[in-house]
Amino acid sequence: MADKILEMHHISKTFGGTHALKGINFELKAGEIHALLGENGAGKSTLIKILGGIHKPDKGEIIIDGKIADIDNVQSAQSYGIGIIHQEIVLVPYLSVADNIFLGREPVTKWGFKDKKQIYSRAQEMVVQLGLNIDVNTLVGELTVAQQQLVEIVKAISFNVKILVMDEPTSSLSDEEVNHLFHTMEKLREKNVGIIYISHRLEELFKMSDRITVIRDGNYVGTKQTSETNSEDLVAMMVGRELESFYTRTYSVQDQEVLKVENLSCDNVFEDISFTVHKGEILGFSGLMGAGRSELMQTIFGASPYDRGRIYLNGEEVFFKNCSQAIEQGIAMVPEDRKGQGLVLENSVGFNITLSNLKRLMKNKLLVSEKKRKNQINKYVSDLSIKTASSEIEVSSLSGGNQQKVVIAKWLATKPRLLILDEPTRGVDVGAKSEIYSIINQLANDGMAIIMVSSDLPEIINMCDSVCVMRNGKLVAQLSQSELSQENIMRYATGG
Ligand SMILES: Nc1ncnc2c1ncn2[C@@H]1O[C@H](COP(=O)(O)OP(=O)(O)OP(=O)(O)O)[C@@H](O)[C@H]1O
Ligand SMILES: [Mg+2]
Repeated sequence: MADKILEMHHISKTFGGTHALKGINFELKAGEIHALLGENGAGKSTLIKILGGIHKPDKGEIIIDGKIADIDNVQSAQSYGIGIIHQEIVLVPYLSVADNIFLGREPVTKWGFKDKKQIYSRAQEMVVQLGLNIDVNTLVGELTVAQQQLVEIVKAISFNVKILVMDEPTSSLSDEEVNHLFHTMEKLREKNVGIIYISHRLEELFKMSDRITVIRDGNYVGTKQTSETNSEDLVAMMVGRELESFYTRTYSVQDQEVLKVENLSCDNVFEDISFTVHKGEILGFSGLMGAGRSELMQTIFGASPYDRGRIYLNGEEVFFKNCSQAIEQGIAMVPEDRKGQGLVLENSVGFNITLSNLKRLMKNKLLVSEKKRKNQINKYVSDLSIKTASSEIEVSSLSGGNQQKVVIAKWLATKPRLLILDEPTRGVDVGAKSEIYSIINQLANDGMAIIMVSSDLPEIINMCDSVCVMRNGKLVAQLSQSELSQENIMRYATGG
């Protein structure tokens, strides 16, 4: 393989009291896909942000094509040919897809005005190349999370990059979109672009990467040739210990019905959906992206309307006009889009955990008991092993996976009867995943009814009592435990 195009030596970085990186080494060759792996909060995104000119390292040097590089800001990173797809989407929601792609480098007409025609046609071409089926005139804010992520990818690739970094690019993509992305990566590799690839999905790393570097708690652990390692090795390097039981599940479904949905329809979104969830049951929802699962959950949670059908909670018909009424009646939902719907990013970890639950923490009619509040925060930070320097720091400074745990904590604190989890472990590392599974199992044992929407097939097969499969807005099958297999679910999900 070709020469090193990038070397990062002894990179260190502290944020206040948090020592995020403690002397990390990393190198990349032309035409190589080099994966970066580590638990939530290990420091992956921080290392990438240093490469991208967003943070300055306290120590260490970056060498590009054999020369020391001076990366002061985002523009200088771009001038070195570095393109980054960040973990959190940074597009401007009120601009069109085309305008976002060309933001800050718009082609101009000979009169010096923005060349709208060219922006549109070039953007449309790039989007089609990546297999994306959208009109580039659409406002980014109107796209789904997955589509936004794809636009980020188009944007990063459209700069003539030599070094491309992808920080969790597939976390909200469907299988088909992931395949398109992998195909694009192969093409870039042929053009000698070096790719740094961050993902918690080990099967992707085995499929795509040449080498894998593992970091733990800001320390460099080691680098392996992908062909010479396996998942046990990597997990041991990541967590520094063996994981015993990954999926914990003791089955304890009770007779008592918690939620019953009858012939629920919302025109052009989902149609004639009926199912029941009992106490202690975990009911899964599987299907391809766009099958209508999230929309159905939004409706049950009172966040969107429906046209026909009935919803019963504990045997009584309910008509929620909004989420507050659903929460009042004991429903909680961990949404798919944590940034848009789950967290108040500029507020503290503690604020977010207790946000939906302040009523329960009142000392009297007017005041919240500070002691109860503190206790509750500490309980969830410790139960879910949320990695945070203190509960008073801003949620936005936590790593992606730890932000997801804060969303889960926030809803658990409301002590719901019915908990709806929409992609609960997206972007969460293996260690934290197994912690979340054991918490979900415990909650089911305690009698909570749980609905779990997930695209992670092994997760849904191992955690659920039965799984509803949706396709094009219809419920096409409800598979019992003994019928659950990846092939079976995919067959119903694709209609194949
Ligand atoms: N701007 C910031 N201010 C304070 N602390 C920060 C900031 N950015 C990151 N950190 C801390 O640095 C550590 C490393 O975080 P980082 O986001 O790099 O983790 P990560 O490996 O990308 O994790 P994940 O897999 O969850 O995305 C964490 O403890 C995080 O809370
Ligand atoms: Mg990260």
